[in-house]
Amino acid sequence: MTGPLDDVVVRPLTPADLPALERMEVDLFGAAAWSPESLAAEIEGPGRWYVGVVVGGELVGYAGLWFDGFDAQVMTIGTDERFQGRGLGRRMLDALLDRARTVGAAVVLLEVRVDNDPAIHLYESVGFERLGMRRAYYQPGNIDAWTMRLDLRGREETA
Ligand SMILES: CC(C)(COP(=O)(O)OP(=O)(O)OC[C@H]1O[C@@H](n2cnc3c(N)ncnc32)[C@H](O)[C@@H]1OP(=O)(O)O)[C@@H](O)C(=O)NCCC(=O)NCCS
Repeated sequence: MTGPLDDVVVRPLTPADLPALERMEVDLFGAAAWSPESLAAEIEGPGRWYVGVVVGGELVGYAGLWFDGFDAQVMTIGTDERFQGRGLGRRMLDALLDRARTVGAAVVLLEVRVDNDPAIHLYESVGFERLGMRRAYYQPGNIDAWTMRLDLRGREETA
């Protein structure tokens, strides 16, 4: 699919979204997918803020942030394969970053597979920088991860 999408809504996730979430999680992350129990705990967990993107009434993506009182962490982001490459990942990431600013996070951190070019491109395009590498971070497969960081404080404040 290509071209702009009409009728796109980004909204908070609720437990009613779990069946769709479970399907997408397995489709997108395969053997590394979070369990239904983990997803259910995650979307309502302390400090968590999860959004979904709805196109034409169908949930086709989701993303989550964790704020610990100081820093924020992008927990996950995924777009249904049928809808990838059409700006939905960017819409959801923008929503997470707006939320991080609103709650006063100093920085936003994340991990991403070193071979995940679409995600790395998306993160770098909004200003994330590679901090370092975590060896064998993702299982199964012992896949390395980049740790990435976006500083939300103004340059003058960090000097
Ligand atoms: C990463 C992901 C969420 C991006 O979602 P998306 O809806 O396709 O993202 P967008 O359409 O907003 O595209 C964001 C950027 O990624 C780039 N991108 C998308 N697909 C790409 C691909 N196959 N290769 C390279 N870059 C790609 C786009 O070019 C776009 O940048 P641009 O606006 O400069 O063109 C999606 O690829 C996905 O769900 N992947 C599987 C799950 C995953 O790996 N999540 C990340 C975990 S850290």
